[in-house]
Amino acid sequence: MELKSRNQCQLLSKIATNDGHGENSPYFDGWKAYDTDPYHPTQNPHGVIQMGLAENQLCFDLIQEWIKNNPKASICTPEGAADFKDIAIYQDYHGLPQFRNAVARFMEKVRGNRVRFDPDRIVMSGGATGAQETLAFCLADRGEALLVPTPYYPGNDRDLTWRTGVKLVPVVCESSDGFQITRTALEAAYKQAHDSNITVKGLLLNNPSNPLGTVLDRQTLQESLDFTAGKNIHLICDEIYSATVSGQPGFVSIAEVVQDNPHCNLDLIHIVYSLSKDLGFPGFRVGIVYSYNDAVVSCARKMSSFGLVSTQTQRLIAAMLSDEEFIDEFLGENARRLGKRRADMCEGLGQVGIWNLEGNAGLFCWMDLRRLLKSATYEAELELWRLIINEVKLNVSPGAAFHCSEPGWFRVCFANMDDETMEVAMERIRKFVVRKREEEVARKQRRRMELEVSLSFRRRRDELVMAPHMMSPHSPMASPLVRART
Ligand SMILES: Cc1ncc(COP(=O)(O)O)c(C=O)c1O
Repeated sequence: MELKSRNQCQLLSKIATNDGHGENSPYFDGWKAYDTDPYHPTQNPHGVIQMGLAENQLCFDLIQEWIKNNPKASICTPEGAADFKDIAIYQDYHGLPQFRNAVARFMEKVRGNRVRFDPDRIVMSGGATGAQETLAFCLADRGEALLVPTPYYPGNDRDLTWRTGVKLVPVVCESSDGFQITRTALEAAYKQAHDSNITVKGLLLNNPSNPLGTVLDRQTLQESLDFTAGKNIHLICDEIYSATVSGQPGFVSIAEVVQDNPHCNLDLIHIVYSLSKDLGFPGFRVGIVYSYNDAVVSCARKMSSFGLVSTQTQRLIAAMLSDEEFIDEFLGENARRLGKRRADMCEGLGQVGIWNLEGNAGLFCWMDLRRLLKSATYEAELELWRLIINEVKLNVSPGAAFHCSEPGWFRVCFANMDDETMEVAMERIRKFVVRKREEEVARKQRRRMELEVSLSFRRRRDELVMAPHMMSPHSPMASPLVRART
């Protein structure tokens, strides 16, 4: 086996044989654990429940209904089959005009129609995964770097770096202020890269954040823009979760901030988007690069040949997104259901004393289990994670996989299952926490008893070594046997 892998290393490229895919991490190990023993309510009720997958399945009923009511949108129906030939032949890699128009309008709608998007700047890619890589190829050379605030989506390590050779430099954010992105943290990361002779080409923000489930406020966006403008580097905003926000604070897009800064250098601003989370279509692989830089649009479009969205998918999406009434209803209902699921989950966890970072976006909570760690180390975090996956049978993701600066945080996804499975998952968490607490109480009691025993032993020993005149007449030293010996 070892010989085989050595041979592979000689036969294959460095990219093919290095670890840049990032799959050797607990984030992916958890998925494997789920795959080998997946929960099913009747066939495998003690299996692993997948809470490590940021999927949005809460509104599939609405989508399915729309598909049934709009058979012409698909070429695989008697109503749509007549267009088969037009869809099956090669298409221009600019994408179908109706698709680019519909995506641009949809992106505006999600941002409350406060900004306009130019359909000619919409470039397709294979999901946000492809969009990130395309941008990395366009903006940085091998060995150059992008700054990324922590904790961040683990896929960034693969998507932005593996094939491009670009580096990521963490901007360390901490729990003490709710993982805020501060100017001090940005400057420190920039300096660290500079001191290591690494050229920083940009800052990547993820708004709303995976894994935090929070939105960036206007001030943080403005400060980030000031920072990147001051350094003359790019600002990339991954806004893949923009329609998952429920309640306040609302989502503010970098597009709005840019609009309010008429003198900002637009050549440095780029948005990554996809329909994987907002509509719940990761399988369709619809990703978007939206750049304000003409050269980037032109190059990204040429690169998009490597990850085009199939024309059949474009056609279906174009029809669906152009149905304004449906989309308005969908966006409202999607936010409502996600908000309810989040609230139910936070309430359930709160009942057993588990606290989450306060958030109102994304498909997950950022759960604080620091109190359950044996020590404040990543080893202890991993130990707890193993316990949760092997005994509680829940696949949650440990903070280390997100480069979190502090052990004890876990991401828990809540939108990829039905209500019944969610209830089973909550029950398992509740039982686990109660058990851990009882174990802790028992451990403390044991420790107290051990301490008392050792104290009383020490007291007696001290009494023993004391001068004989100090001895109590009741001391064992004063027993007839001892007296007989002395
Ligand atoms: C922040 C973030 N960016 C990008 C992606 C990749 O998305 P896609 O499935 O569209 O490639 C994900 C997926 O989880 C994500 O959470």
